[in-house]
Amino acid sequence: MAQKYLDPSTALEHLKSYPTRDGLSVEELMDERLHGGLTYNDFLMLPGKIDFGAQEVITETRITRNVVLKTPFLSSPMDTVTEGEMAISMALLGGIGVIHHNQSPAAQAAMVRAVKRHENGFINDPVVFSPTHLVEDVLDVKERLGFSGIPITDTGSLGGKLLGIVTNRDVQFASPATPLSEVMTTDLVTAPEGITLLEANEILRVSKKGKLPLVDKTGRLTSLLARSDLLKNQTYPLASKRPESKQLYAAAAIGTRPHDRDRLALLVEAGLDIVVLDSSQGNSIFQVEMIRWIKATYPKVEVIAGNVVTREQAASLIAAGADGLRVGMGSGSICITQEVMAVGRPQATAVYAVAQFASQFGVPVIADGGIGNVGHIVKALALGAGAVMMGGLLAGTTEAPGEYFYHEGKRVKAYRGMGSIEAMEQGKPVPPSAKVNGVNQKPGHKDSNRQKKEQIHANAATARYFSESSAVKVAQGVSGDVQDKGSVKAFLPYLYAGLQHSFQDMGIKSVDELQSGVKAGSVRFELRTASAQVEGGVHGLNSYTKRLYA
Ligand code: IMP
Repeated sequence: MAQKYLDPSTALEHLKSYPTRDGLSVEELMDERLHGGLTYNDFLMLPGKIDFGAQEVITETRITRNVVLKTPFLSSPMDTVTEGEMAISMALLGGIGVIHHNQSPAAQAAMVRAVKRHENGFINDPVVFSPTHLVEDVLDVKERLGFSGIPITDTGSLGGKLLGIVTNRDVQFASPATPLSEVMTTDLVTAPEGITLLEANEILRVSKKGKLPLVDKTGRLTSLLARSDLLKNQTYPLASKRPESKQLYAAAAIGTRPHDRDRLALLVEAGLDIVVLDSSQGNSIFQVEMIRWIKATYPKVEVIAGNVVTREQAASLIAAGADGLRVGMGSGSICITQEVMAVGRPQATAVYAVAQFASQFGVPVIADGGIGNVGHIVKALALGAGAVMMGGLLAGTTEAPGEYFYHEGKRVKAYRGMGSIEAMEQGKPVPPSAKVNGVNQKPGHKDSNRQKKEQIHANAATARYFSESSAVKVAQGVSGDVQDKGSVKAFLPYLYAGLQHSFQDMGIKSVDELQSGVKAGSVRFELRTASAQVEGGVHGLNSYTKRLYA
């Protein structure tokens, strides 16, 4: 007997006879009694319908009560991930870099200031020398940093009176021991601070100089402009800027000890917008008191509290006044917390539980740790996160602190947990060869009082793990290296474009639409068995190359 089929033209109509859509709702996915705690790799999103281009997708999200970014990307406050250069690049590209606090308050404040003062094209922390520096110092900078156009001020630093400039030509044939006072060019073309990039560009064009120092009314050096930078000058339409001042947003981490209040004062003076209270277990009386104090003392500074992974932890910090929450305990790529402490939570479950609770109070959450690819970012956003925070994924970029080196034939950069023994110990002494302005300082350069103060302040990594008073330091992180990822200026646009394509596959045009679709049950999920995970990865090939973007 011939089988009787339904009329194909009624397929869409027929769908309505099903009680639910294909796949699982978020509540079904996150039923812990059935599936336990989940990580990002344990599930997938089901596709929707494409009726728009990927470039139409808007990734704008709220990361704290009052800060909205065009892309949901944050970099971790770790000493191998975020210093000034990373923070500036992240903000230019639409995210935010949180400057770490495993350094002196003065050094951290200088990085905040550099972010706030950054204007695309102007170098606000140039290498500066004094007339008593030697030709060999210039040659050293040239070898390590690749340039030799260096302004000379009476103090040897930015803010000093501009006396001259040295360029490659000045030092080319001079003996290395010659003081710069004897070779520097004193016939200077300068520009007043505050001029626009366009005006500065014109001066450089007419003068045919390679570098243009900018000075204030009294002739003190305020920044520098390089012809080579102008030539490659890009625009950043997604840049994270304060709406009123148009300055880049600056964020930095601090601890919750009494002297962190002094640190915060310096950071606020430097222009800080967002402070991240950096603790691996955020639900402590210290943090609750710190949030209250900051909200009372600096009402304009947004406070991101954490880390938390449960509703109960989140409730304490929300009640204290947190403007955002950082979620994750044990999910980081360098992290051994779950193994050693037996405390933590699988990240997907943690993000969902905290975001669902916090959203009722208008407090956004940041999914921190365990982000290894674009798909993880999409899943974190679907589970309610306003943004993701990445350490390992960014540590191999040019803008992360540290130099590249070769390990087993691969070009790598060091990446270490802030709870690794190495990071906790490095917090203590500031080595005499510490770098200022990217230049090694000679021993005895710093006065000993300042150095002592820095030693007290800089021990931040131990505090994150409540280890400072323990006789034995128990590590919660490891130290290793990650592969070269090139510039964050290419890598972040890849993450952004990847996100847009993923949203397009789901038939979703914005983060808001994604999150309301998840709530309403129209965005669907699927659990992945162990073999489904194998199937979802590359398999069955003899060998292959994995290039992520071009
Ligand atoms: P990743 O992006 O997976 O590499 O994780 C980065 C995150 O790990 C950071 O933002 C911190 O929340 C967390 N983290 C940093 N250092 C440590 C550590 O030593 N142990 C545990 N977690 C850490």
